[in-house]
Amino acid sequence: MSIQIDLKGRAAVVAGGGRGLGQAIALTLAKAGADVFIGNRKEEEGLAVVKEIEALGVKGAYHFLDVAKDETVQEFFKQALQFADNKIDIVVNNAGIIETRAMMDIAGEEAHKVYEVNAMGLANVVRAALKQMIVQEEGKIVTISSIAGISAMGMLEHYSASKYAAVALTKNAAIQAAKYHINVNAVAPGIIRTKMWEEILDMMTDASEETRKRDDTFDNAIKDIVPFGVPQTEQDIANAVLFLVSDLAKEITGQVLAVDGGTTI
Ligand SMILES: NC(=O)c1ccc[n+]([C@@H]2O[C@H](COP(=O)([O-])OP(=O)(O)OC[C@H]3O[C@@H](n4cnc5c(N)ncnc54)[C@H](O)[C@@H]3O)[C@@H](O)[C@H]2O)c1
Repeated sequence: MSIQIDLKGRAAVVAGGGRGLGQAIALTLAKAGADVFIGNRKEEEGLAVVKEIEALGVKGAYHFLDVAKDETVQEFFKQALQFADNKIDIVVNNAGIIETRAMMDIAGEEAHKVYEVNAMGLANVVRAALKQMIVQEEGKIVTISSIAGISAMGMLEHYSASKYAAVALTKNAAIQAAKYHINVNAVAPGIIRTKMWEEILDMMTDASEETRKRDDTFDNAIKDIVPFGVPQTEQDIANAVLFLVSDLAKEITGQVLAVDGGTTI
């Protein structure tokens, strides 16, 4: 007998699903049979992912979303509810941005953006998701934090603080949601070379350096930080999300699952 995760007939929402980890999460949920509603700021990226979702034989759709602006979150969930025939089973908040400037180099005001998206934006999405799921008395929410939300990294201080906030929001939401049978968990990705990591490499190397130097810097970071000695992939993160939204994880809530090759041990 084999164990399979089957999400046929379920409706999933992926905030920040236009590329990188969000794209892999959206496609993995679709491969498991879920219909998937995508939101992010860049329409062309969102629509491209929708095409890939539909090619898997399930329903997909896109709507504009800026998680930092609550009015767009409200409208996005209104549209999502229509898409999902009034029952949203799964919400994944993957939307996030990086702040590579050091804490000592920028004043508070300049650092606001990363908190607006990674902390307040997450709160906006979780609030909208919970409002609906409380009515349904059912649902799964997964937030995407980071290894920088579990331990200090000695750099990316503001990003790290915003991702610690994501963990705190997840745990507190999980307590509120428990009596309605709603699971709220976080995934903490390790190091995946997406566009976000290219921004980190811009900070770690001279922008004029050739590709080989960037590759060396990335490889050295992996060797220095990751016990398994390899970077993680988008699919590694999507697999963890798939597990957490499945019935296999029905007794898991308020947890942070690090997918990091041992980095945060
Ligand atoms: N790549 C990594 O190594 C890594 C490690 C740990 C955590 N993470 C987290 O994983 C998530 C995805 O990162 P990624 O590496 O795929 O980065 P990415 O920059 O490739 O993708 C980020 C996604 O979020 C969307 N987004 C950004 N701001 C938004 C907003 N205000 N409203 C709606 N959507 C918005 C973008 O459009 C994009 O689709 C982020 O939350 C990031 O912090 C990434």
